[in-house]
Amino acid sequence: MGVSAASGKPGGTAMAHAPVSFEADIKDVLSVFRGQMIWRFDVAKYDEVRANAGIIFPLISSNPPQMPPPPFPGFSQAFIAAFKAWMDQGYPP
Ligand code: HEM
Repeated sequence: MGVSAASGKPGGTAMAHAPVSFEADIKDVLSVFRGQMIWRFDVAKYDEVRANAGIIFPLISSNPPQMPPPPFPGFSQAFIAAFKAWMDQGYPP
């Protein structure tokens, strides 16, 4: 498990994720909630999600999730893993 062909980095993390990008993996999923969060930041805008990623990640990955708030179902584990990978990979646009 030490080396991921996907990341191409030797000695990487145990759970290296395939390459992700904001446009391909993040934007459309977050955009569903654009109206509810636009008072604070635009979940469809790369710069704003990147600037807030450090507070977004704990809110979407907690159990139960804090964002989106109840009664909305939380994001899938696959999406949460992709969001973390997006951060770890240096926020590919
Ligand atoms: C139905 C969907 C949503 C509703 C109704 C909603 C509502 C709210 C409300 C009322 C707050 C302020 C009170 C609190 O912190 O609990 C808040 C904060 C926050 N929400 Fe959402 N939200 C939604 C979805 C999302 C999603 C999908 C994200 C992630 C992209 C998100 C990210 C955040 C962040 C980062 C804060 C904290 C802002 C800060 O501390 O300055 N929210 N949301």
